[in-house]
Amino acid sequence: MTSSMIRKLNGLLRTESLGKVIRYQDEVESTNTTLLELGEKGASEGTVVIADKQTRGRGRLEHSWISPAGKNLYISILFRPEIVAIDAPVFTLIASIALVEVIQKLGLDDVNIKWPNDIRIAGKKVSGVLTEMRPRREMTDFIVVGIGVNINMSREEINSEMGDVATIATSIKENLDKDLDRAKFAADLLIELEKWYKVFTNRGRGKSTILSEWASKWGDKDKRVSVSINDEEEFEGKAVGIDDKGYLIVELNSGDTTKVLAGDVKTI
Ligand code: BTN
Repeated sequence: MTSSMIRKLNGLLRTESLGKVIRYQDEVESTNTTLLELGEKGASEGTVVIADKQTRGRGRLEHSWISPAGKNLYISILFRPEIVAIDAPVFTLIASIALVEVIQKLGLDDVNIKWPNDIRIAGKKVSGVLTEMRPRREMTDFIVVGIGVNINMSREEINSEMGDVATIATSIKENLDKDLDRAKFAADLLIELEKWYKVFTNRGRGKSTILSEWASKWGDKDKRVSVSINDEEEFEGKAVGIDDKGYLIVELNSGDTTKVLAGDVKTI
């Protein structure tokens, strides 16, 4: 994204709060890190940080997020919901739902979610979500939702820039066979995100609506999975669902179920 694209994004935005303040930088370490700092200084709900390039893009489980310039979307959004801290992971679910909706509207159909935070097109990862929270006692002070989307990278660029993960990664361009307007994609994403955020906060049954919407977009229901935790403990089972905190429920061979909070889950 360049600053002229941000002007375009501003013109396209039809949101009440998300993106009313947009901080754009050509290059940052991580848009999440920048927005966490702004959050500590009191930045308001809906503040957005977008960068054209990240030098230390971060993923879940200390992974890095490869973030070359000129091609993709790296965006972080600040929320200040009145919720208990343990409910913060629901924001990963909200962002995942919004991403699937926006990508499907581009005309792609084989789009789904891999627990907990990957979006896949035809089985390959196109996007990831990193939700980080700062608590205030048992409540949430603020939440930063960071989203990376591989948009206009060609297969050749993925292969040359993504190293080990190139074979399991994809981009929107690779699937649509054309370049996409990143400003329009960002605007559509913020609009969809605000819609699902309202579903979560406005209705009495917001959280259960989010959980069931997520489940309908989840690609691995009832698939056999192998789960590794901290590269140590490893077990297999059947992925059967998520609980109300967003933990993955796995049915073991014994018939007992176990919950996974953070781990690497592969379908087998
Ligand atoms: C993952 O798949 O593990 C999550 C990846 C999240 C990447 C995005 S890019 C924008 C924001 N800034 C970061 O440093 N990470 C997130």
